[in-house]
Amino acid sequence: MLIVVKLEYDRIKEKLGFKIMNIQLLNKKINEINDSIEVVVLKTTKYLEKSEKKLLDNIFFSKESFNIYFNSLNNRLYVSCLKLKSENIKTAFFKVIEFLKKTKINSIKIDIVQSNKEFDISNIVEGLVFGNYSFDKYKSVKNSKNIEIFISVSNSKKSIDELQKLLDKALIISNSVNFTRDIVNTTPQDYTPKTMAQTALNLVNKNISCEVLGEVEILKEGMNAMFSVGKASINESQLIHLSYKPKNPKAKIVLVGKGVTYDTGGLSLKRGDSMVSMKCDKAGASTILGIFEALGKLEIPFEIHGIIGAVENMIGGNAYKPDDILKAKNGKTIEVTNTDAEGRLVLADCLCFAQEKIKDIDYIFDFATLTGASIMAFGGYTTAVMGYSEKLKNKIAKASKKSGELVGFLPFNEYLEKRLKSEVADMVNTSANKNGGAITASLFLSKFIEDKNKKKWLHFDIAGPSYRQENWGYFYYGATGVGIRLFFKFIGT
Ligand code: BES
Ligand code: MG
Ligand code: ZN
Repeated sequence: MLIVVKLEYDRIKEKLGFKIMNIQLLNKKINEINDSIEVVVLKTTKYLEKSEKKLLDNIFFSKESFNIYFNSLNNRLYVSCLKLKSENIKTAFFKVIEFLKKTKINSIKIDIVQSNKEFDISNIVEGLVFGNYSFDKYKSVKNSKNIEIFISVSNSKKSIDELQKLLDKALIISNSVNFTRDIVNTTPQDYTPKTMAQTALNLVNKNISCEVLGEVEILKEGMNAMFSVGKASINESQLIHLSYKPKNPKAKIVLVGKGVTYDTGGLSLKRGDSMVSMKCDKAGASTILGIFEALGKLEIPFEIHGIIGAVENMIGGNAYKPDDILKAKNGKTIEVTNTDAEGRLVLADCLCFAQEKIKDIDYIFDFATLTGASIMAFGGYTTAVMGYSEKLKNKIAKASKKSGELVGFLPFNEYLEKRLKSEVADMVNTSANKNGGAITASLFLSKFIEDKNKKKWLHFDIAGPSYRQENWGYFYYGATGVGIRLFFKFIGT
């Protein structure tokens, strides 16, 4: 059943507005590329000419990474980078673009081989594309600068065809990260569950299909937990099912996402200051939308499903309440002890829906801004990963290293599981004891994972890294699109 959501407001149609970068590979020596500023990444100032060395040492080039200096005499832009490892290369190029945005310079050239090291093109691209990101949709004055980028590859060990493929892939994935960032950064008045359904429908192409269920169908499916969370909102809840089906897929992967377009906490209302930023509560779903945006442009040999629960957690005369007992799709009953633990209710039903509709699943991952406790546990930059399979967690640890996304693992135990016991229903949605809250939330979700899928499931709590109210590394204030790069490394892209 395919229900095409009609748009109620024109503004919803507004295209997501990030700028795509123009990056060209040139099979020319760096000096043969004219009219551009040369970006030089400096591990050390040792080999520079004396006066230049002195100047750069005075501004701590040999002591600190990511200092920037533009020498107008030789048209070089220097960036210090004391360790040439992947994450630092990304940050170095990010800082270059961040700097250039404040100048009149609009064309740069980069030698892929510098300091006797051939940079990985995808690291350069990520740094540049994330540096170029800006969320100025709501600014009256926009930064519309276009920077042209030439990469000299004549010294590369790789063929230009191979490099072009790597460049294209890196551009697709890093732009899909920016696509997700735009969604998460968009305000709750402009981004409702129906807007999210529309974003998903816009991704449909020859390999991607999409089904959207409204509240009538959600209730018909027996998804009372998800329905209850959204019922006080004037914006109708939407269950979105995206499918990517290539020919002869190697495996079947299901991604389930929390798409709470705004989380007031419901009747267990959040305090004003912790409510600010809760537009980020759709980040899990938005990560899945970003993955599908990239899937539309890549050739990936896996069948991939995205199941998104898009709801708004509001207050009102019709709101679900603490003390309510909700019956989830799998028949299990949940005593609501806190309406602010809404994400797990939405996910519970979405996980059941996914396992009922999709057979022979190889992996089932859920992405959610689920708990403040995961931020407490890891400090905010790290995704908290939980699940029953050590083997699968090890694979994620490897993907984390390759992608640069930080992950940490939290362990389950039977004592924490006991905290979910209810006197009147099968379980409570929150326990009175808040310690280990990221783990109890995940254990709650595990009650909705069928036994045969227990070892195929992982839960990714992205409450910390998906949205930060600060600039950090190669990210600006706001959404980060976390999960996308990790996922693509996991599947070997
Ligand atoms: N959306 C929040 C979690 C969150 C917190 C995301 C901070 C991003 C930043 C979630 O719905 C929530 O409110 N969780 C509660 C659970 C509690 C009531 C057990 C929390 O973490 O306080
Ligand atoms: Mg909440
Ligand atoms: Zn929430």
